[in-house]
Amino acid sequence: MSLKGTGTMLKWLSKYACIFYLLTLSGLTFLFCNMNILEWNYNCPLGLCNIQSEDPPPLERKQTFCSHLDKEPSAEEALEELDLLESNSWPGPPHQLTSIPIEKTSDPAHSLFVILPAEGGRMRQVGDQLEARVIINDFKGNPKSYGGDFLLARLHSPQLGAAIAGQVLDHKNGSYSAFFPLLWEGPVQAEVTLVHPSEAISVLRRLREERPDRVLYGSMFRSGLISETTMCNLCLPTSEQPVCNYTDILTGDPWYCYKPKQNLSCDKRINHFRAGYQNDLLTHQETILFQSAVNIKVRIHATGSDSVTVLPNDKDKPGAEDIFVWSRPGWTTPSGYYYQWLWRGLGDVLIREYNDPAAITQCLKGKMVYMYGDSTVRQYYEFLTRFLPELKEFNLKTPARAGPFMAVDIGNNIMLKYRSHGPPISYIPLSIIQLHYIANELDGLVGGSDTVVIISIWAHFTTFPLEVYIRRIRHIRRAVVRLLDRAPETLVVIRSANLRGQSLKECPIVSDWFAMQLDRVLRAMFKDVKVLLLDAWEMTLAHHLPHNIHPPHPIIKNMINTILSHLCPEVVQN
Ligand SMILES: *[C@@H]1O[C@H](CO)[C@@H](O)[C@H](O)[C@H]1NC(C)=O
Ligand SMILES: *[C@@H]1O[C@H](CO)[C@@H](O)[C@H](O)[C@H]1NC(C)=O
Ligand SMILES: *[C@@H]1O[C@H](CO)[C@@H](O)[C@H](O)[C@H]1NC(C)=O
Repeated sequence: MSLKGTGTMLKWLSKYACIFYLLTLSGLTFLFCNMNILEWNYNCPLGLCNIQSEDPPPLERKQTFCSHLDKEPSAEEALEELDLLESNSWPGPPHQLTSIPIEKTSDPAHSLFVILPAEGGRMRQVGDQLEARVIINDFKGNPKSYGGDFLLARLHSPQLGAAIAGQVLDHKNGSYSAFFPLLWEGPVQAEVTLVHPSEAISVLRRLREERPDRVLYGSMFRSGLISETTMCNLCLPTSEQPVCNYTDILTGDPWYCYKPKQNLSCDKRINHFRAGYQNDLLTHQETILFQSAVNIKVRIHATGSDSVTVLPNDKDKPGAEDIFVWSRPGWTTPSGYYYQWLWRGLGDVLIREYNDPAAITQCLKGKMVYMYGDSTVRQYYEFLTRFLPELKEFNLKTPARAGPFMAVDIGNNIMLKYRSHGPPISYIPLSIIQLHYIANELDGLVGGSDTVVIISIWAHFTTFPLEVYIRRIRHIRRAVVRLLDRAPETLVVIRSANLRGQSLKECPIVSDWFAMQLDRVLRAMFKDVKVLLLDAWEMTLAHHLPHNIHPPHPIIKNMINTILSHLCPEVVQN
């Protein structure tokens, strides 16, 4: 047997053995065998590594990030983590990137999509599904032979203000299918965008696993007249310098700073801030994969028409009611769609429009609303404090973006609070006294029918391996479950990640691909918990407004409509 054959066989055996153990033996064995997979991929036994360029891409790293610095997960948790990592695995080029010339990478200008004809050539009706086939070609116009391109698809009717997110399926041979549910009558137009070529995804994946230091964090230590600033992160190479351990005692979330060289002990740390970004992240060849207007978020053109006309459904009575029965087995239904640019959820709660401050006040009367996370949840705080005249902001004299913030309407007994999540929050200097983990905050809430909790935590996690996010969300989920156990009437809203603007500079730090992976993890981890999942991903994907880390006002308004409609399900009388 050739060397290559042996290597493949060994890999296959360790994988097969692992599945066997998984099915039959205990969690302990499982962890042990998981480590074996790692060894074959990451060590280079017998110099086998150089054959990997011909093999399928290696399994994604299953090793936990900073595992030597964090609590050991239970067998059940480790299994969930493995599942999440597997379901987020992403196909990539079968060759090493350095061996792929740029002209052989995916080029949206040479790629195309075609709307497939309906079965039997009949006209499409409300309730049907539209499929578009996407063919990705390289810069020479030759079809790609492997998958892994990151595509987005939406279907819209500009004249109706209607739009919905499409679902993209990777056939792993250079072709993709985009599926769109047809939920309204009239002309509809499909739109397909290449966010990143698969070769760029390989770069992003490498950065995520190998360079969790892409955002730099610092802290100042001070005592009397002595002060010193050192670097901090979730994980620091400990061999270089002694570290201070700020791992949270309750949640176990890790955080470290280098110990000051001067005579300053670890408890003299006073603040936390973003110290900048790494800028030596991409090689010259890699930067060619991230060119605005060339291969970052560029539309793919249709061959033939990009539009079809949707007729009323002739089986049942026509109209909007039909949408509620739309579903396809084994398919994640979209969570909603826009009509006249108003978001209509496909769940069982009717989403109403709140145009009048009095109606919002009526709904929030007697409520305490706690918002935790990053600036994408702070937008709701800002929206409400601007929109409701009776809601007065209490000046806590905290930093502009980081907060915490508080607003009250004494007459209607409404309180709004915003607090940012703990490290790795990346803002201007923030007192370490304000660095609170969401899980610990939730453990401090009594909860009940007058309590609303809104959580959005994703934007500051894009630079870390998925395991970091999985662990953070696990701690939050446990706290949400405890809260709902003691106060089942509490409304807990989990806001998902959203799309944002992308450029060469931003991609290595905040690519939508990173956010998409976090988003999938978040959905999967909360799917069995009684929370409202606010689908910011689809709401920004479907909308015609440009992608922005802080979605523009009309989208925020639709998100507020969604939250309030769930909080006050019966019609509000003015
Ligand atoms: C940091 O502290 C945590 C909890 O107190 C502990 O589990 C972990 O091992 C410590 N890390 C190091 C590098 O000592
Ligand atoms: C790619 O795979 C899909 C699904 O299996 C198939 O329909 C399509 O014909 C394939 N395309 C090519 C170019 O092989
Ligand atoms: C370091 O600080 C401690 C307490 O502040 C003090 O007792 C000690 O003398 C200092 N050591 C040096 C070398 O300055």
